[in-house]
Amino acid sequence: MIKCAIIGATGFTGMELIKILVRHPGVRITHLTTRQDTPIPVRNLIPVLPPGIDLEIVPYSFTDVKKNADVVFVCLPHTEAAETVKEFRRANKIVIDLSADFRLKGLKEYERWYKVEHPCPELVKEAVYGLPELYREKIKQADLIANPGCYPTGVILALAPLLKNKLIERDSMIVDAASGVSGAGKKLDPATQFIELEENYLAYKVNKHQHMPEMREVLETYSGAGISLTFVPHLLPVKRGILATIYLQRRKNVSARKIEAALKAAYDKEPFVRLRPEGNFPALRDVQGTNYCDIGFTTDPQSDRVILVTAIDNLLKGASGQAVQNMNIRMEFAEDEGLKLW
Ligand SMILES: NC(=O)c1ccc[n+]([C@@H]2O[C@H](COP(=O)([O-])OP(=O)(O)OC[C@H]3O[C@@H](n4cnc5c(N)ncnc54)[C@H](OP(=O)(O)O)[C@@H]3O)[C@@H](O)[C@H]2O)c1
Repeated sequence: MIKCAIIGATGFTGMELIKILVRHPGVRITHLTTRQDTPIPVRNLIPVLPPGIDLEIVPYSFTDVKKNADVVFVCLPHTEAAETVKEFRRANKIVIDLSADFRLKGLKEYERWYKVEHPCPELVKEAVYGLPELYREKIKQADLIANPGCYPTGVILALAPLLKNKLIERDSMIVDAASGVSGAGKKLDPATQFIELEENYLAYKVNKHQHMPEMREVLETYSGAGISLTFVPHLLPVKRGILATIYLQRRKNVSARKIEAALKAAYDKEPFVRLRPEGNFPALRDVQGTNYCDIGFTTDPQSDRVILVTAIDNLLKGASGQAVQNMNIRMEFAEDEGLKLW
């Protein structure tokens, strides 16, 4: 049995982690923490937990967590997480950070997009980007796993095999993505109030979203050169899920069959990526409540465009499900332990 702690357990990703870890046969939750100064029975936040789970979320104490945890999940807002991650790495714990603080290797990019100087650049070098389908071998050895962002997960999974096989133009990528409102976390924000959201649909941070440098940095390692990416995120009036439609220009003489073959070669054996036959596209409801990333594609002979549609649950494959998938890889559990539907 490994001992797990969740820092920031009252948030959306923290609560999803609790739901997964209580049914993981190889894990015991030893600490759930909050900044608040009185303990919170976990059942108050998650009434659907099975009987016999009497955990409490308690005020954060580094010393207490350090004494009794092998793996620490950090579910704090970006720029708040780095110092906590640093403490636990100094104490030699395995850390899975759900924030963006260790995803970007380029420190200048981090400072530009997150508007703070990175407090522990030495740890950025050590961190492994936690996208299992692309970095599984590194994750097996990693003591600091930077869990990917929700938008980048689906987009990178769709694009990496096509760039790697040089099937698409590097300067032609347009990502049009829409997220459910849980993507913004539970903090109060006028833009995510029911009255603003209901019956509404809007673009936000157009080509200014902080997930852009993350997508670009990872995808450039697959293209071997600079890429040009336009990213337009939208807010959907649903609780969870991200659907991204991606428009690309294919290279000369690249057939639909070649596109399909590259995606199949990358994902045929993957437990959490499901590839659709050409012309068949996923919807949010196909992935909500699951750790799957579903990918559909088609090609348009008239415009030479490739169109991909990817769907994930932002709180699972886009956050807590993927974090557990990473823990399973690192701690040598079956990769789908705790994540199987039945
Ligand atoms: N939501 C998603 O879909 C998603 C997907 C991928 C990655 N992420 C990342 O995962 C991390 C957690 O996201 P989340 O959606 O769980 O966020 P959230 O719902 O806002 O929860 C964050 C928790 O962190 C604690 N916290 C500690 N210091 C804080 C501070 N200075 N300001 C606000 N909260 C603070 C809060 O708990 P107490 O008030 O109890 O202390 C809060 O419940 C973020 O870095 C986020 O970017 C989120």
